[in-house]
Amino acid sequence: MIYYPLKTLISAGIKDIMIVSGRGHAGHFLELLGSGSKFGVHFTFEIQEEAGGIAQALSFAEDFVDGDNVTVILGDNIFQDNIKEDVSAFSSGAKILLKEVTDAHRFGVAELDGNRVIGIEEKPKNPKSNFAVTGLYIYDCEVFNAIKTLRPSGRGELEITDVNNYYINKDTMGYRILDGFWSDAGTFESLFRASELVRNLHTITEK
Ligand code: G1P
Repeated sequence: MIYYPLKTLISAGIKDIMIVSGRGHAGHFLELLGSGSKFGVHFTFEIQEEAGGIAQALSFAEDFVDGDNVTVILGDNIFQDNIKEDVSAFSSGAKILLKEVTDAHRFGVAELDGNRVIGIEEKPKNPKSNFAVTGLYIYDCEVFNAIKTLRPSGRGELEITDVNNYYINKDTMGYRILDGFWSDAGTFESLFRASELVRNLHTITEK
């Protein structure tokens, strides 16, 4: 689970990676991953003291990012697609990756109008589409100003969906629909599916 999201970033050519984790697991991450030299990259570690949301976790990376663009991946998201092209072609604004799913109500859901995303709703009861917003986001450094405008949501978190809607409102949000499989691991069912997908992927690769 820990290696797959990192592999997605590393195979996109990203060499400086900040890992933000809760306090309880921070030591384990450090022990497992070390400096990053084993992977040809450099890891920096940061602790999120409370469950303040993905946008709060990202805010801790402001000095680390230092005016550059930033790619964010959630630690429980598994992607088959390579994102190298998305990262290298990105210049400004924001970009999200969408995946058509059958259980959209579990995710941020994108409403599309032609080639534009016109809104994202976080875990809607009646999703406006089947396009889940996956846990991989590319932003310019404006993202840190966007986060400063946020207020905690109903679940008491700074929501990444609010960050994405900030860019949508400025008409600077791009998207791509993923071809390969994608899964989170937020439920027992999706954790099982993610394991199964990874196993199948290895079986295919080994053949
Ligand atoms: C988060 C985001 C959601 C996104 C999902 C992808 O949900 O808030 O928009 O679709 O990750 O895994 P959470 O895992 O916090 O419930």
